[in-house]
Amino acid sequence: MSDPYIAVAECAAIPEGGFIKVKAAGVDLLIAHAGGRYYAIEDLCSHEDYPLSFGCLHGASIKCSLHGSSFDLATGRPLDPPAEQPIRVFPVQIKDDRIWVAPGI
Ligand code: FES
Repeated sequence: MSDPYIAVAECAAIPEGGFIKVKAAGVDLLIAHAGGRYYAIEDLCSHEDYPLSFGCLHGASIKCSLHGSSFDLATGRPLDPPAEQPIRVFPVQIKDDRIWVAPGI
């Protein structure tokens, strides 16, 4: 079986507290750096399919700029209304100072 992980960015490209948008395996992803960890989520709010990349990070969560729901970057769980469904989160590995994501898992 082939390795499901795809290199999406250099670690140095995302400062602590920041994020970037990338596309991997046809999925629009947001790669965030918070609390010394990297996270990969789908760049799509579960409430009304709005890009989360228009929002902002608050610690290890991201707040949607359209109606204000926040989501846990690790689990995808909504932390406040109006969103009720989780967002998609993907496994991340760090190898050779690069961020690898498995968008198909
Ligand atoms: S579209 Fe994100 S909270 Fe409504």
